[in-house]
Amino acid sequence: MIYNKIGSSDLKVSRICLGTMTWGEQNTQEEAFEQMDYAIEQGINFFDTAELYPVPPTEPTYTRTETIIGNWFKTRGSRDKVILASKVIGRSPGLHWIRGENNCLDEANIEEALAGSLKRLQTDYLDLYQFHWPDRNANFFGKLGFRYSKDEYWDKIEASLEAASKLVRAGKVRYLGISNETAWGMMKFLEIAKSKGLEKIISIQNPYSLVNRSFEVGCAEVCHREQVGLLAYSPLAFGVLSGKYDNGARPEKARLTLYSNHFSRYLAGQTLKAAEAYNALARDQGLSPAQMALAFVNQRSFLAANIVGATQMDQLKENIETINIHLSDDLLKKIEDIHDIYTYPAP
Ligand SMILES: NC(=O)c1ccc[n+]([C@@H]2O[C@H](COP(=O)([O-])OP(=O)(O)OC[C@H]3O[C@@H](n4cnc5c(N)ncnc54)[C@H](OP(=O)(O)O)[C@@H]3O)[C@@H](O)[C@H]2O)c1
Repeated sequence: MIYNKIGSSDLKVSRICLGTMTWGEQNTQEEAFEQMDYAIEQGINFFDTAELYPVPPTEPTYTRTETIIGNWFKTRGSRDKVILASKVIGRSPGLHWIRGENNCLDEANIEEALAGSLKRLQTDYLDLYQFHWPDRNANFFGKLGFRYSKDEYWDKIEASLEAASKLVRAGKVRYLGISNETAWGMMKFLEIAKSKGLEKIISIQNPYSLVNRSFEVGCAEVCHREQVGLLAYSPLAFGVLSGKYDNGARPEKARLTLYSNHFSRYLAGQTLKAAEAYNALARDQGLSPAQMALAFVNQRSFLAANIVGATQMDQLKENIETINIHLSDDLLKKIEDIHDIYTYPAP
């Protein structure tokens, strides 16, 4: 395993982070335990979760993933082996069953969310606490171009950062991060932290994969210049970059077969065509499509960790193994050639 610090922090994490969002929905607690045990054996020391998980989120199931992780900590006595990240949701009237219609990133919601997460996770601190998505109209969850609306609600980044900074000072959280953010959002968090003496964000958890490289446009530069690390999520574009959906295939029990209504983002437009081109290139190079796709993410200069997800143990083994794969300059050039044709198919 390779380890690096996240941004300007002292958190030394494995470059492969264990994603958890299938546990409690596609995976049982027993299967989750097997994944966590195996990941630790392989040198992974970084888990990412959220109060919202598992996905797709529903009223009866949300919080299950954190509960499973908490049960594993208790059974194994292994909290100290893991750098643990979780998240509080941003404003979402559609998820009113989480703290009501006004479930925005204000002090009361953040405090209540963290208390619930700590209880379920059976721990008294988080290493990283992330705002799951912004409290404002911005480009995230499938949006590429910003469209201003004069009726849009405004955000309160300063109030959110102030509330979360108190949690750091109280010792309940070690570091703060953002997720599904834009370059403007990242800079705003950094500027407010500096001018108001609040906690600096150390990470941004955004989607990043061969079919979604929009992060490179504005955010990658901010990461380098401001020492913020990318925690890349959905590096296989929900499985599309494993090749399993090529030629119209819809494998039984696979995420995009089971929940196609929730996740059209990865089956839309040019995404499948782009994925098929990358998947063919990988096979031509003697790699599996998933290996090439994950190794590509692992090699990015602005990456702090690649958050992999799996529903099967053989998938998890293949994904973790990619830390040992290095893509040559020649192969990277061929990847750029496909990127030039299908530039941002799945933002
Ligand atoms: N901050 C956010 O908003 C956000 C959003 C999404 C994810 N995340 C985080 O990122 C983690 C990873 O995201 P993700 O699950 O979307 O990642 P992903 O790599 O895009 O998709 C993972 C899924 O692809 C399939 N798969 C994985 N490895 C495979 C392989 N080797 N061969 C074939 N199929 C394979 C599995 O689903 P099937 O078996 O069902 O096909 C697996 O659950 C999550 O667990 C979560 O921690 C964060």
